[in-house]
Amino acid sequence: MDGRQEGQDGGGSSGGSLILTNIGELATPLGRSARAGAQMGQLLRIKNAGVVVDKGVISFCGEMSDPAFCDKLDQAKREGFPILDANGMACAPGFIDCHTHFIFAGTREDEFFWRANGLPYMEIHRRGGGILRTVEATRKASQTELLELGSKRLESMLCQGITTVESKSGYGLDLDTEVRILETAKALQATTPVDLVSTYLGPHAVPPEFLGDPEAYLEFVIHTVLPAVRSRNLAQFADVFCEDGVFDLEQSRRYLLAARELGFHLKLHADEMAPLGGAGLAAELSATSADHLLKAADADLLAMARAGTIAVCLPLTAFALREPFARARFMIDNGLAVALASDFNPGSCYSQSVPLLFALAVLYMNLTIDEALTGLTLNAAAALGLAQTTGSIEAGKKADMVLLDAPSCDFLAYNVATNLVKTVLKAGTVVYTRA
Ligand code: NIG
Ligand code: FE
Repeated sequence: MDGRQEGQDGGGSSGGSLILTNIGELATPLGRSARAGAQMGQLLRIKNAGVVVDKGVISFCGEMSDPAFCDKLDQAKREGFPILDANGMACAPGFIDCHTHFIFAGTREDEFFWRANGLPYMEIHRRGGGILRTVEATRKASQTELLELGSKRLESMLCQGITTVESKSGYGLDLDTEVRILETAKALQATTPVDLVSTYLGPHAVPPEFLGDPEAYLEFVIHTVLPAVRSRNLAQFADVFCEDGVFDLEQSRRYLLAARELGFHLKLHADEMAPLGGAGLAAELSATSADHLLKAADADLLAMARAGTIAVCLPLTAFALREPFARARFMIDNGLAVALASDFNPGSCYSQSVPLLFALAVLYMNLTIDEALTGLTLNAAAALGLAQTTGSIEAGKKADMVLLDAPSCDFLAYNVATNLVKTVLKAGTVVYTRA
């Protein structure tokens, strides 16, 4: 039976202590900020590795033959300190999904088939389908229902090695439902070892009560919802769907400036369907990240590199929409820091598959395995403002790690679209083991 280990504290702060031995190969990026350009490919790889974790924090990571490790191991054996034998398995940092919309009700499988038959995503949106259908279902859902749905989805993340996840609102649009979604994320935090980071995405679509009047809706968002979300401390980030026919560049700028004024960090859904210039706006405002970027212009991407704005690429969405992938190779070759995420949502990407995401990044976006791993760990941590404390396996960082049923991390790509995650450690505590 697959399953979570019982008896864990929620919030990923349980702070376990243990020694991890006989790691076949440990692979990790290093650093406390995003790795950009060529640095993305510079992983530390150690054969026959060991890791020491003290109260949830890594205190040693290196070769088993290192005298410091041997001393620790001897001491551990004498004192009955917990030892976990990795039996030759590969070890990587816990995966970080830095862009998801996982709290919603209802599904839209009919739209998937319409799209498969050629109807464009934005055409469905224009006809009042798309996001607004999920808004309708989510407004009707109680917090209990949202908790159940969210918790099931978190289970699926955990067994694929995700130890930190971002959760966007944006399927409520009115004050009550947006707050309910964000409070659901907060409540879920008490029940899961996965760390959650919340993002307010009020400008995701114009709701029916403001139909045809995006300006009035934005006024409501800026003057009513943003301050309410801020005062209740329900989200660290503010995001906007900056897209042709949704919120234009000027509206996005106004909203993001207001959010920044209130202390939010910024994210944008940028240049997904049309080349509107969202990537350039992200750079202009020093946003933490700009996400999607399928149609982003070269000059805007270069501006992001200069501004240190992280490019979050979402290969599963491009795949599901049958759109050309974001040009991650160009981005890395031009000095950007790329992160990878699922974009899990009921419309453009009803998939939580980390293994498929990894395969697409390597096989179709031409990332090296090392770059893809950096994108899914340290750079994703940086896209959530967490690179100081997580995203890599090194002394001083939170002991969030996965053990893979494979001798090396290369198998994450080689064993195409297969979940290799055998054990997940969150802050040094085993929180999941696949039998
Ligand atoms: O990131 N593009 C906007 N938002 C989501 C899709 C939301 C939906 O279709 O429900 C995305 O792709
Ligand atoms: Fe999204």
